[in-house]
Amino acid sequence: MPPLISIAPLILFFAAFVYAQPSPEVQKRISAAIVAAANESSPDYTAFVNPFIGTDNFGDVCPGASIPFGMVKFSTDLTGYAPAGYVTDPTQTIRGLSPLHDSGTGSSLGTYGNFEIMPMTCPRGFDTCTTMLSDRETFRKNNTDDASPGYFSQTLDNEIKMEATSTRRAGLERFTFPEGSKPYFVLDLSNDLPDSFVGGTMNIDPEQGRVTIGGRWGSSFGPGSFSYQAFSCYDLLNNGNQTLDEYGIWEANAYGLNAKGLGQTHLNLTQSLIGDHYEYGALFSYAETPEQIIIRVGVSFVSTDQACTNAESEIGSSSFDDIMTQSKALWNEKLSAIRIDLANTAPNVTELLYSSLYRASLTPNNATGETQGAFAGTASFYFDSLYCSWDTFRTFYPLMALQHPVDFAQIVDNYIDGWRKLGWMPECRANNLPGWTQGGSSGDVIVGHFAINYHNEAADLGIDLNELYSAMLADGDLNPMEWDIQGREVNLYTQYGYVPSDAIDPSSTGRQTREGSRTLEYAFEDFSIRQAALLLNNTADEERYLNRSLWYRNVWDKTVVSDGFHGFMQKRLPNGTFNFTDPTDCSPQDTDENRECSLQGDNVEGFYESSSWEYSWFAPHDTNGLLDLMGGNDTFVKRLDHFFDAGYYLAGNEPSFQTPIGYHYANQPAKSIQRVRQVVFENFDITPAGLPGNDDQAAMASVLTFHLLGLYPVPGTSQFLILSPFTPNYTIHNTYLNTSTTVTTLGFDPESVQATIPHGAAAYVKNVTLNGVELSTKCHFDFYDVFRIGGEVVIEVTPDITQGNDCGSAVPESVSMGGFTSLR
Ligand SMILES: *[C@@H]1O[C@H](CO)[C@@H](O)[C@H](O)[C@H]1NC(C)=O
Ligand SMILES: *[C@@H]1O[C@H](CO)[C@@H](O)[C@H](O)[C@H]1NC(C)=O
Ligand SMILES: *[C@@H]1O[C@H](CO)[C@@H](O)[C@H](O)[C@H]1NC(C)=O
Ligand SMILES: *[C@@H]1O[C@H](CO)[C@@H](O)[C@H](O)[C@H]1NC(C)=O
Ligand SMILES: *[C@@H]1O[C@H](CO)[C@@H](O)[C@H](O)[C@H]1NC(C)=O
Ligand SMILES: *[C@@H]1O[C@H](CO)[C@@H](O)[C@H](O)[C@H]1NC(C)=O
Ligand SMILES: *[C@@H]1O[C@H](CO)[C@@H](O)[C@H](O)[C@H]1NC(C)=O
Ligand SMILES: *[C@@H]1O[C@H](CO)[C@@H](O)[C@H](O)[C@H]1NC(C)=O
Ligand SMILES: *[C@@H]1O[C@H](CO)[C@@H](O)[C@H](O)[C@H]1NC(C)=O
Ligand SMILES: *[C@@H]1O[C@H](CO)[C@@H](O)[C@H](O)[C@H]1NC(C)=O
Ligand SMILES: *[C@@H]1O[C@H](CO)[C@@H](O)[C@H](O)[C@H]1NC(C)=O
Ligand SMILES: *[C@@H]1O[C@H](CO)[C@@H](O)[C@H](O)[C@H]1NC(C)=O
Repeated sequence: MPPLISIAPLILFFAAFVYAQPSPEVQKRISAAIVAAANESSPDYTAFVNPFIGTDNFGDVCPGASIPFGMVKFSTDLTGYAPAGYVTDPTQTIRGLSPLHDSGTGSSLGTYGNFEIMPMTCPRGFDTCTTMLSDRETFRKNNTDDASPGYFSQTLDNEIKMEATSTRRAGLERFTFPEGSKPYFVLDLSNDLPDSFVGGTMNIDPEQGRVTIGGRWGSSFGPGSFSYQAFSCYDLLNNGNQTLDEYGIWEANAYGLNAKGLGQTHLNLTQSLIGDHYEYGALFSYAETPEQIIIRVGVSFVSTDQACTNAESEIGSSSFDDIMTQSKALWNEKLSAIRIDLANTAPNVTELLYSSLYRASLTPNNATGETQGAFAGTASFYFDSLYCSWDTFRTFYPLMALQHPVDFAQIVDNYIDGWRKLGWMPECRANNLPGWTQGGSSGDVIVGHFAINYHNEAADLGIDLNELYSAMLADGDLNPMEWDIQGREVNLYTQYGYVPSDAIDPSSTGRQTREGSRTLEYAFEDFSIRQAALLLNNTADEERYLNRSLWYRNVWDKTVVSDGFHGFMQKRLPNGTFNFTDPTDCSPQDTDENRECSLQGDNVEGFYESSSWEYSWFAPHDTNGLLDLMGGNDTFVKRLDHFFDAGYYLAGNEPSFQTPIGYHYANQPAKSIQRVRQVVFENFDITPAGLPGNDDQAAMASVLTFHLLGLYPVPGTSQFLILSPFTPNYTIHNTYLNTSTTVTTLGFDPESVQATIPHGAAAYVKNVTLNGVELSTKCHFDFYDVFRIGGEVVIEVTPDITQGNDCGSAVPESVSMGGFTSLR
């Protein structure tokens, strides 16, 4: 969750508006498809996806046309707060259509949006075209926005319709003009969403009908001194079926400069050192008044030549419909790995699930072969927009591990390559550049999760476990000179056993805030390293990191009392004394709108985007150790209840992901099931505002997916917590192991699928069997016993809360209780 703004008050303010975007036809089409698919054996899963979920209420989702993990995501860019380009807000105007976007990243600056193209009619000719952003921005025609996997469309209020479809690094744009108008286009060289241009070039080749653009732009979530290079290639003639008329360049600024160079074909510009803001680009028109114009676009992070080659090789002379069909087929491959009982699942659940699975394969952006800087020419896979690992380690990669380990292995390779090239694994790569660290080195948990779940296949999947382990150890042992963008502040952490506040760090630099939450995240990362050490039989490291994983206790101040509950995580001084922070600060109940809770230098709370109430639950590897600190089962359960009832829980925040399932550890799993139903229906729905804030690179999509499936993965382990599915049965196909596992909810009661489970509705887990064998514990099972083998899982549910409120022989594992010591 990276926005550098205080979240809660803004969400409350904006949620009051109701917008009518996208076209009402989108939901009608999806609803009809879900009904029609009830009895189909191989439905078109893309028909259930609503790409607009999360495009309002700061969800920052990009509904643009993309293939799975596409480097290209075609969307329009709108004015206002629109990090992903598109937003539903009809009071905002459209700047243009562009090929590069991220999805679900909360950069307050916005991200990408380079190479915008804007169609227009210039009734009084070339010289009168509105080229500069503020002049060309146009309202949409309300209720016409449309999108489906592989397709995006929007109509301007001047009736020009824009459509796009894409491949990994290229795409086709189709523009339909009102009858009788001459098509004009402005193509932008300099503007991107963060307004970060630091120089570039543009060339128009009128014979070939080709415009090439290259330049450098700045980071959306990282040091302002970094910049990245990007290139594009626009082919204007649609295989010779279109004829160019006028062409030229333009330059403009806010103080009256509004020049057009008819017939000029080159721009070659450097950064404006005095800091003035100029806009530049190309302007061209077509002969006659053709109704439709098709433009082919290629992009590259290497060169304009490569951008053109990408368009030639990935699109060639294929038609718009051909490319759309290809994209849709790629999406169906991803989406069909999970098949649910469509006839007996609530339509909203179907739509939520497939829309979430869609976003869970939308990012990170696959820029393999498109590398620059330290990664130029790397032999490894390369993904841009790891934005941020703090968001994605908890559920996003565990979901990938469940279904698509080949994709996961490629991304793990990319993390390890970060260590090879820069010395530490990436934490928050944005726009091909290192972005700001939020917690610690969460990449440790990501690659650790892979190692624990796929060590038998690692070599076949291209991963060397010893190398993976070396990368983890670099994060855990080597303090970088500057730890704001990679690695951790481990020197002080290991000296004190916690990240001290107000301590001298004589050999490294970084923003010395968030000491409480950094200690908690570091400790969990250490647990992940411990699991990998166990896997590799490295006894010394195993003991060392096991010990470090318990350091979460070192920031536990048992004297702090809030709402009658004793003991909270707190920032701590080097001499061991705690420095008090009110545990409700930065919670949704905090009324101080000026308090800084994020990465700001004046966030003095000790926590990142969370209250102490919230982060005090965070020790996923040792929840029972935490339960003991809190005073035992009864207090723990009362405290959890209070956390939710008092409004301290923040559904849209990653540290809170596992909290609703905390009751499992106090042997009260029925209460977890009630909480998860409540969390889902109070925070998620199928509308554009249907996410509790930023999707955080599908962190929200993946936690929702697990909730709907009645599962929750403990990151860095092979353990799943068992809950109550929202569907009577589903089958998960593991696309690499080639196993299929069907999970049946025996006694499924559709009445139970709502925020409050009505009395008498079956929802509580009574019995779990794996391939006919009853489990002695009903609260967890292991990946190795279930999804790796395949077969039948039966979760029998009962309306009897008392019967369902018992794990059986054991609660899920915790490290200080001897858990997680035997690997599979
Ligand atoms: C699906 O099959 C059931 C049972 O055969 C039938 O009642 C129902 O109408 C069918 N639904 C659709 C949408 O065809
Ligand atoms: C679209 O709807 C918004 C909000 O109702 C309104 O302000 C705007 O004028 C409408 N735009 C057009 C082009 O009708
Ligand atoms: C028009 O485009 C199609 C492909 O879309 C191509 O087959 C055809 O040759 C083109 N026509 C001309 C005149 O180049
Ligand atoms: C831009 O101009 C500089 C200075 O003349 C030159 O070195 C460079 O090659 C030019 N770049 C392009 C892409 O034309
Ligand atoms: C990424 O792109 C490369 C090169 O085309 C391809 O081999 C790989 O399978 C892609 N990975 C994913 C996860 O899409
Ligand atoms: C670790 O030890 C176990 C048990 O002795 C053995 O099966 C396994 O192969 C060893 N693993 C490694 C990476 O050496
Ligand atoms: C630790 O340092 C703080 C701040 O200087 C001081 O207030 C506190 O008394 C010290 N605690 C001990 C135990 O010396
Ligand atoms: C304790 O934290 C507060 C901010 O909450 C800060 O102003 C103060 O300087 C800190 N005390 C010490 C001794 O560092
Ligand atoms: C919590 O409950 C479990 C299961 O009922 C029991 O085994 C355990 O001893 C209790 N723990 C504490 C600290 O009360
Ligand atoms: C489905 O979602 C829509 C939009 O949130 C809501 O209005 C409707 O009540 C939901 N339907 C059911 C049956 O929950
Ligand atoms: C899933 O449920 C449907 C409808 O209840 C049933 O027809 C189908 O056989 C079930 N699938 C499995 C694998 O149990
Ligand atoms: C659980 O289901 C299995 C398989 O149907 C059955 O043998 C067992 O008795 C059931 N246990 C309970 C507690 O219902």
